[in-house]
Amino acid sequence: MKAHIGTHEHLTHRGNLSHTRYGWLRLTPAYSIHLVADLLHSGAASHRVVLDPFCGTGTTALVCAEQGVHCDTTDINPFLVWFSQVKTATYRASDIMSFSEAARSVYATIFELDAPQWTPAIHQIEKWWSVPKLAALSRMMQRIHELEAQTPERSVNLLKVAFCRVMIEHANVSFGHQSMSFKRASSTPMFDLLLRDEDWVAESWTRAVNTISVSALSAIMTEPRMLICDARRLTSMLSLEGYTQVITSPPYPNRMSYIRELRPYMYWLGYLSDAREAGEMDWQAIGGTWGIATSKVNKWTPELPIDIPLDSFPQLLDQISERSPLLARYVHKYFYDMVQHLSELFPLVQAGGSIHYIVGNSKFYDVVLPVERIFAAMFEVAGFEQSQITIIRKRTSKRELYEYVVSAKRPS
Ligand SMILES: C[S@@+](CC[C@H](N)C(=O)[O-])C[C@H]1O[C@@H](n2cnc3c(N)ncnc32)[C@H](O)[C@@H]1O
Repeated sequence: MKAHIGTHEHLTHRGNLSHTRYGWLRLTPAYSIHLVADLLHSGAASHRVVLDPFCGTGTTALVCAEQGVHCDTTDINPFLVWFSQVKTATYRASDIMSFSEAARSVYATIFELDAPQWTPAIHQIEKWWSVPKLAALSRMMQRIHELEAQTPERSVNLLKVAFCRVMIEHANVSFGHQSMSFKRASSTPMFDLLLRDEDWVAESWTRAVNTISVSALSAIMTEPRMLICDARRLTSMLSLEGYTQVITSPPYPNRMSYIRELRPYMYWLGYLSDAREAGEMDWQAIGGTWGIATSKVNKWTPELPIDIPLDSFPQLLDQISERSPLLARYVHKYFYDMVQHLSELFPLVQAGGSIHYIVGNSKFYDVVLPVERIFAAMFEVAGFEQSQITIIRKRTSKRELYEYVVSAKRPS
């Protein structure tokens, strides 16, 4: 069966880029709008209320917003909650006019070489941007801060999204692999070398502002609700039995750190101010192992007697532990956290409601972790029934790695 499964690019975030606001920022963890739309339509058509407890870039929320379906979304990362809110908001023509007017003022500052500037405290910032580009970006951000007092919040938010597009376009990083890495010097396009840095930044700014001005006017039928919330504490903020469907993609147990990936955005927009804070935030996230989070995972032991419902789980942990005790702890903690998340989720779902988790399996050394089977079993332990696993696509990274939808129902 696996032999017929292709990588299906349209079922990844790449398939989203040309749709309305989906391509505003290219943040790696997003999943496919087609998949979300299909799952949405698999549920009952009336009185739908959707929850996405790991909203990331707000894909579920935007699909729901465009289709007039009520949706609540939560994430532990405040930058992603802000961005999802901005991406799913309604913008009137007057918001776009004040955005365009403010954008002209930001444009002017690119060439005002002695204008005040604001530079974030990113470690080794000189590796990220050339000196003139960094100075131009710093002047732009300073101007955005100055404009905040006199510009409607929705328009300022759009300025910040446009800024993020330009900032990342000029960063010396590439996205070829699963995570972001610094580019080699030779990979700078020839066109880039022929332009003055300020001209190049200005051209990107104009392009970003034009794209956003058009796509921000796309129709939003129902604005979703976004909350900063730890998925292990959902009942403290959300209503019991409030949701007919859960459509989400949790972090995968693959050591990807969202804070590491998102740090340029988070530093520039003021969501991070130093490396310690970054490591602390990663530690709070499920599956985080970046910076000081790594040493915390290394010392972690379970506080509660939680069993992971797969008979071979202890053996799999032992096999991983032979090569890396740290990774074994990491895997154990990931599922321990997920069991807690699912026990918080269960009371929020209406009787007969369905849950859909898009997950990827992982491989540590030669040990393949059947993540999809563990999720299906964890659903049953939490009280859901009829759990079902469907393969969506093969992932490009390593052999044996697939993406799945794992679904289940709350008993009627
Ligand atoms: C795979 S991404 C979600 C991607 C999303 N479906 C999209 O299309 O952009 C997983 C998300 O889980 C969030 N997350 C990690 N730990 C969390 C926790 N304890 N509570 C809530 N969200 C968490 C991360 O911040 C990240 O945004």
